[in-house]
Amino acid sequence: MERIIRVFPTADELADSFASMISLHVMKKPPGRKISLTLSGGSTPKAIFEIMAGYDKDRIHWPEVMIFWSDERCVAPGSDESNYRMAHERLLKRVDIPGANIYRIRGENDPAAEAARYSDTVTQLIPPANGIPRFDLIMLGIGDDGHTASLFPGPAGLFHSGKLYDTGQHPLTGQSRITATGRLINNAGEICFLVTGASKAERVAQILHKKPGWAELPASMVAPPGGRVTWLLDTAAASLL
Ligand code: 6PG
Repeated sequence: MERIIRVFPTADELADSFASMISLHVMKKPPGRKISLTLSGGSTPKAIFEIMAGYDKDRIHWPEVMIFWSDERCVAPGSDESNYRMAHERLLKRVDIPGANIYRIRGENDPAAEAARYSDTVTQLIPPANGIPRFDLIMLGIGDDGHTASLFPGPAGLFHSGKLYDTGQHPLTGQSRITATGRLINNAGEICFLVTGASKAERVAQILHKKPGWAELPASMVAPPGGRVTWLLDTAAASLL
């Protein structure tokens, strides 16, 4: 696994770097194939998506990008909790991406049935490697507890699930979630952690400097054997490195 760490003083510069990563995947792809980009949710991407929505329309050739999600809350798409809604409002409705390229996790459906349906969808659409769909680029965040996607720390963790997408609950709120598992995430070509803010600095240092307890954090378990993990951090999140 190759690891790259980039630190930026501003969200604009961080967003610019992420957009360049997407564009590079589009440029490198075989003719006639779209790239697969998997979005994370939460609050960190909001500012990044807003900035990217303002780019010149040729900056990222969106018609060649398929959009998936690394996880979704089990809520309706119109809920302000929905990762789909956040991405749609802040980015997807503001760029020229065809609706047919967007594959929403249907948070309003029965969680187990939807996790199975979405796993099948990804299997049908994404070329495999090692017998598992290989996303070109997966975007992830990190929670204060070291979770990523909706893979939370603890014995019932789903990281090692045998499924591609599985169901779980947020440990504090009990909210049902549908999440990509470690099996799928660690098969990706490239993974990009976008982490901002001083509240994440301790976790980032714990993970990247392998401080006590680091190995138990799901975010630490993201280590695609044949892939690359890029960390895009602002100076606050990187302040303890
Ligand atoms: C979600 C996300 C989750 C998020 C982290 C960080 O559904 O909430 O996928 O994994 O990336 O919790 O969230 P913040 O950016 O809000 O700190």
